[in-house]
This record gives sequence, structure tokens and C-alpha cells, in this order.
Amino acid sequence: GNVVGLVGWRGMVGSVLMDRMQAEGDFKLIEPVFFSTSNAGGTAPAQAKNEKTLKDARDIEALKQCDIILTCQGGDYTNEIFPKLRGAGWQGHWIDAASALRMKSDAVIVLDPVNMPVIQSALAKGGKNWVGGNCTVSCMLMGVGALFKAGLVEWMNTQTYQAASGGGAQHMRELLTQFGALHAEVRDLLADPKSAILEIDRMVISKQRSLSEKETVHFGVPLGGSLIPWIDKDLGDGYSREEWKGMAETNKILGQGEGFGSPAVPVDGFCVRVGAMRCHSQALTFKLKKDVPLADVEAMIAADNEWVKVVPNTREATLKDLTPVAVTGTLQIPVGRIRKMNMGPQYLGAFTIGDQLLWGAAEPLRRMLRILLE
Ligand code: HSE
Repeated sequence: GNVVGLVGWRGMVGSVLMDRMQAEGDFKLIEPVFFSTSNAGGTAPAQAKNEKTLKDARDIEALKQCDIILTCQGGDYTNEIFPKLRGAGWQGHWIDAASALRMKSDAVIVLDPVNMPVIQSALAKGGKNWVGGNCTVSCMLMGVGALFKAGLVEWMNTQTYQAASGGGAQHMRELLTQFGALHAEVRDLLADPKSAILEIDRMVISKQRSLSEKETVHFGVPLGGSLIPWIDKDLGDGYSREEWKGMAETNKILGQGEGFGSPAVPVDGFCVRVGAMRCHSQALTFKLKKDVPLADVEAMIAADNEWVKVVPNTREATLKDLTPVAVTGTLQIPVGRIRKMNMGPQYLGAFTIGDQLLWGAAEPLRRMLRILLE
């Protein structure tokens, strides 16, 4: 069947998903039913066909009519509704952007250009729960998945530069508001080319330190003109939850490690929030299991999927193609700065970027929908 219930389609990730589904003609293949947590009975969006009013996203009977449910509503919704729906005997496919079910043994983290065999094997066993991965992990594997698939990675270290959008829409607004407040503070001095830069700097730091609670409510501290080396919860063992996800999800996506009867590849590093809008960037260090010539590494990465793009390791190409500004709004995953490191011939460095809302969130979900419709 192709009755697809859509939940959380109005939020930021949901809106990006709807745009992508529209662009790829996905709506032609489905009978969409739009759900709402706040506006049941309201008018469904233009993509609606037979069912033109919004259904109540907490109405288990209405949800049960769907063959597939695709939700971007968030983890609280999943935790509340998913057990009730399965408890009521619903046998459909649940596709979810939230992390709530990600590490469950009966859920697959979907990233089909990287783990189609894992998806196929779960489908063959009757799998019905499909969850999008953490954005940083998904974007990283779209870039350098080839090295993992080839079994070349002994371990990987990652240092991230994560955009405001990972926190949510309000975080993006807050970042821009902060930038605006800082600029307003020194606008007159900036306009005068002879003004003293240290005076400007003093005024900026003073403003940053005195931003109101309202101006920092989402990040907790200023992000504009600063950075925050902690993302998500404090796990109490020195790790942030975002850092923990790096190793756990990378291995689960690849179908290795705990629960798969094969060793996990160690992944570790620091996750840092920076003042980018919606692209997550990361500097990667690999220890490879053997010395692979650089040209072979580049060729493997470039051939892995149709979205990855090897950026030549030159200043000119890097500035042109390897920045959040260059990548935002595209499905391209550039991988650049690829070189061997001073530590030895088995040590490889690379830098990669992905749009956190596209490959990091919406795209793997709509592709899973297409796989189920085939
Ligand atoms: N946790 C990510 C971040 C976003 O805060 O950037 C979603 O995976």
C-alpha cells in the first residue's frame, strides 16, 4: 500500500523534506495523509490528494490507516505515539527523523548510499522501523564511507564544526540576532576606517558578555563571534551525547560492532558548535590499516556515490568548494584537504562538509520511503 502519513511536515526538517519530495516527484507515488499535533481539522497543504483536512497526530485509529508513517515531529512524539501504535497492532513502516528509536535493535539507521545491504537485510527479515542518523555522522559517511566499506579504517578521529541549524530553527535566529547586536554596537566605529581596532574589539567582547538572557536563551552563551565545544547532553563521563553518537551510530549504520558480531571501529573526537547556518563541517584523521597511496584513496572516495566530490587539496579549490557557504542548499558532499599526515604513511587527513538539513536529515528519509515504494 502507499498511504503515507506525514507528521511534523511543517517544522524546519519537515519543510526541507516536503520540498525534496516535491522536487523528486515523490507525491505522485503516494496517497499522502497529513497529520498535525496542533491543528487537526485544518486544511492540508497543496500536496494533499483525497484527504484534504489535517488528521490528529495523536489519533491512533487514524494513524493505523497508514501503510507508512514518516515523522519529523521529534523524539517526544515518537516516545509517546510509537509504542501505542505498535501496541495497537499496527504493522506498517515507521520512518523517523528523531533519535528516540535509533539504537534499538529492531531499528535500522538509514543511509542507503552507504548501507543499502544493511537495509535490504533488515527488509528481508521483516524490519519495519527506519530511523535517520545523526546529521554529523550521516554527512561524514556520505563523504568517506568508501574507506569504511573497504575495511581500511583502524580508527577515526573527528573534530566537528557544527552549524546553528543542528539545534533548530530558533538557534539559527538567535545566532543572527547576536551577530546583529554585535554589529550594531560598533557600527559607527566600523564606518570610520581610522578608528582603533582594539577599541572595536573591546566593545564587541563587552557586548558579548552582556547579551541579555533573551539573546542567548537557546545556546546558553553567545555563539556569534565565539564557539561552543559541547553539543547535546552531558553524559557525565567526559563525553557529550553528540560525541557518543559518533562511534555508536557510525558502526550501527555500517552493520558492525555491538549486536552484529563484529568489532566496532573506534571513532572519537570533539563536537563543536560554530556560527555557520546549516552546514556541518568536520576535520577527520584516520589511521588506516595499511599504507594506501593517496591517489587510490581519492579515487575510492570519488567513486563511492554520486554526491561525493573530491576537492583538490589546494588553497584555491578549498576556498571555492570546501566551505559551508558553497555547500548550503545542495546535496553535494565535498571531501577535501586529503593528505597523508606527519605521523606516518598510514595516517590520513581529510575535511568534509554536508548540508545538515539535506543529507543530515531529510534526504535519507525520503530515499527510504522510495525504497519501500519500489
Ligand atoms: N545533534 C545535531 C546538532 C543535530 O545539534 O548539530 C541533529 O543530528
